[in-house]
Amino acid sequence: MKTFFLLYFLTLASLFIYLFQDPELEESIKRGSEIYADFCVTCHLEAGEGVLHTFPPLAKSDYLLENREASIRGVKFGQQAEIVVNGISYNSAMPNPGLDDEEVADVMNYILNSWGNSSDKIVTLEEVEAIQK
Ligand code: HEC
Repeated sequence: MKTFFLLYFLTLASLFIYLFQDPELEESIKRGSEIYADFCVTCHLEAGEGVLHTFPPLAKSDYLLENREASIRGVKFGQQAEIVVNGISYNSAMPNPGLDDEEVADVMNYILNSWGNSSDKIVTLEEVEAIQK
């Protein structure tokens, strides 16, 4: 019986550690999902799929995943330039969403870890602050 309780306890403990391995990232993603729903979903849509030739996708976007700094800059200041996302070129305008730096970090963590995207490096407030126009 003792062994049973010990095992039970160990299982619970490891489950707990597994679930809460990075509470900071989890919390940021949670806040980011609300920001996404308020400021991004109108163009990039619910599943980050975007609209072909008009609004680039965020889900599995090579641009987002490979150009972390440029992506943060775009979300922080807005952007209008020709960019290629998953082989398709876009040249339209993303207005400055008007977020503060903390919110930019949160929404970045959300889009970098949703719809099959994943990034092990959390976007921090300091990282966003350091990025200039
Ligand atoms: C009014 C529509 C609109 C809204 C709202 C909008 N975007 Fe965009 N977004 C665009 C367009 C258009 C581009 C491509 C701009 C270009 O051609 O330079 C883009 C590009 C991007 C890119 C880089 C390209 C890619 O697909 O990986 C990211 C990342 C991004 N947006 C994230 C966001 C986030 C996060 C928000 C919310 C805070 C947001 N966008 C809100 C229209 C929008």
